[in-house]
Amino acid sequence: MLVYLNGEYLPNQEAKVSVDDRGFIFGDGVYEVIRALGGRFFTADEHLARMEHGMHALRIPQLPETRSDALLAVAQRLLDENELSDGEATVYMQVTRGSARRTHYFPPVGTPPTVYLATSRFAPPVELRGSGADAVTCPDVRWSRCNLKTINLLPNVLAKQQAVEAGAVEAVLVRNGVVTEGASTNVFGVIDGELRTHPTSDHILPGITRAVIIGLAEALGYPVVQRPIAIEEVAQLEELFLTGTTTDVLPVVRLDGRPVADGRPGPITVALQGALRERMSASTS
Ligand code: PDD
Repeated sequence: MLVYLNGEYLPNQEAKVSVDDRGFIFGDGVYEVIRALGGRFFTADEHLARMEHGMHALRIPQLPETRSDALLAVAQRLLDENELSDGEATVYMQVTRGSARRTHYFPPVGTPPTVYLATSRFAPPVELRGSGADAVTCPDVRWSRCNLKTINLLPNVLAKQQAVEAGAVEAVLVRNGVVTEGASTNVFGVIDGELRTHPTSDHILPGITRAVIIGLAEALGYPVVQRPIAIEEVAQLEELFLTGTTTDVLPVVRLDGRPVADGRPGPITVALQGALRERMSASTS
C-alpha cells in the first residue's frame, strides 16, 4: 500500500516519522477517518471541516499541504493508486505539530506539521449489524475537549480494551451520571418513542454520522431530542445503538450483560440502518 507522508507517496514500510515527532512524544495532533464507496468519499467536506477546526483549536499552523482541498486530493490519489476505487475503503489522515526538540511548549515558529494519509480496504461487519452487539458501561475519564478529534486516545484505548475483555464491542462512557458517547462511536437510545442522544458539547465528539442520523431520523418523522441518557434511564431503553464512520448504525442488544428491551435490534434502529445505507449509496454514486 502506498501512503502519503510530508509530500511524498511511498510504500507504507518505507514511511518513517522522526522519534522527535510531537505526535509520538505528546500525542500532539489531530486525525480523521473518512469512508469511501466506489472511489467516492462520504461526507468528506464535514470531516475536513472538523479536521480544520481541530488544527485551528490546537493552534497547529496551516500550510498549503494541510488545507482541506490538498488533503482531499491526496486522499483521492491514494484511493486510485492503491486500487481502492471499487468497493469500500477508508482513508486515515493525521496532522501533528511536527518534529522538534522535546519541549512541552510549542516548537519554534516554522516547524512544519507532519502530514500523513493512508488508505485501507474496508469490510463492513454485516453480521454484527444484523444481530446487534454487546456493550459495557465505563467511566468517562477523558478531558473536557472531547469535541476535538485529537490523536490523544489513551482513555478511549483503555475503555475499548475493557469492553473487548468483557466480550463486548464497545464501551459506553458515563460522565456525571449520563451517557456521553462510545470509545469510538456516538450513542443513541430510544425512550418513550423518542430518539435521544447527548447534545454537542465539549464532552462528545460531534460525530459526522451522528449528524447524518439526526437528519435522517427527523426526515423519517422520528422525534429526536438532544438530551443525554441518564444512567438511571438505562432500564427504560427501548432501543440503543452506536454510530460512526466505520460503525454506521450498530444496534446494542446487551448492555453490561443485560438485554436492552427484548434483546433484539429495534425498529427505529433498523429503519435508520437502511436509511443510512441508502444515503451513502446515493451520495457516492
Ligand atoms: N472514531 N466518538 C468518538 C470518540 C470517535 O472516535 C468517533 C469516530 C465517533 C464517531 O464520529 P464519526 O461519525 O464522525 O466517525 C464518535 C473514528 C472512526 C476512529 O477513531 O476510528
